[in-house]
Amino acid sequence: QWTTSSIVEEQVQRISDQIGDGRAICGLSGGVDSAVAAALVQRAIGDRLTCVFVDHGLLRAGERTQVEQDFVSATGVNLVTVDARERFLDALAGVTDPEQKRKIIGREFIRVFEQAERDLKAQGDYKFLVQGTLYPDVVESGGGEGTANIKSHHNVGGLPDDLEFELVEPLRLLFKDEVRRVGSELGLPETIVQRQPFPGPGLGIRIIGAVDQERLDTLRAADLIAREELTAAGLDRSIWQCPVVLLADVRSVGVQGDGRTYGHPVVLRPVSSEDAMTADWTRLPYDVLERISTRITNEVAEVNRVVLDVTSKPPGTIEWE
Ligand code: XMP
Repeated sequence: QWTTSSIVEEQVQRISDQIGDGRAICGLSGGVDSAVAAALVQRAIGDRLTCVFVDHGLLRAGERTQVEQDFVSATGVNLVTVDARERFLDALAGVTDPEQKRKIIGREFIRVFEQAERDLKAQGDYKFLVQGTLYPDVVESGGGEGTANIKSHHNVGGLPDDLEFELVEPLRLLFKDEVRRVGSELGLPETIVQRQPFPGPGLGIRIIGAVDQERLDTLRAADLIAREELTAAGLDRSIWQCPVVLLADVRSVGVQGDGRTYGHPVVLRPVSSEDAMTADWTRLPYDVLERISTRITNEVAEVNRVVLDVTSKPPGTIEWE
């Protein structure tokens, strides 16, 4: 029978067989998948695992502290944090094509892990890279037989060809709900296990247009307000996730006080889903939408319009890029 504890047992055994007495690096994103993958590998190889948290500057507010505190206190794992904000911003400068953004981000992640591997050389060779790749990531990146490439998930289709690591991907056959159950079985706290999904490429694929520091700051501020209001309304568990998307190349005319504004729209994209393969747009209460809209337009200077995405998946994907 395919129970959660049998998945854990089997994966721990597979990981031990694959890594032997070697060492592994695991990129932590702050999300459920990489946290659960890391916890599984830690169970298999203990402190021969080192986690690397890459601050690529595309994170939401508070994310770095959450990983540094919550995950480390729950697992006691070795953690290295790399400040790679400049590196990612430079690499993304002027790029607007979604697939190109995803490939650049995937490649830069690997370059940071390779640097970390060199920095950790004194402890021994880190030949393995652990990733929290899920089954849907593989399918949508065109990895399954007969499947189209919808978008290159940063840790699948976004990997560079000259990858020096051997990959360890213990969640490759699982869906999100199974991953959450595995996380609970491994004793990870609810704050991690029940977290809403957030894509590895982060805010980089939620800015429609080129990514720069100012646009990131704008989107981060709007995103934080939406998250605060959804949490205050008790809706975190009933929605799958709610991307906030900045239409950075679109401007519209507004009026605030006595003055004309010519600012950017943000899109709210609340969705309900079982496994992210399909999704329905969530009918959020009007009063919650109103609070989010009022606060964003009052508090985020560059945004003068908030719009709601009422498209299901298909035909829309969850993320806009
Ligand atoms: P889409 O946009 O394909 O998203 O409908 C499905 C789910 O996957 C997340 N997502 C990603 N997660 N790396 C990730 O780790 C990625 O490159 C990536 N792209 C999308 C998305 O947030 C949603 O939950």
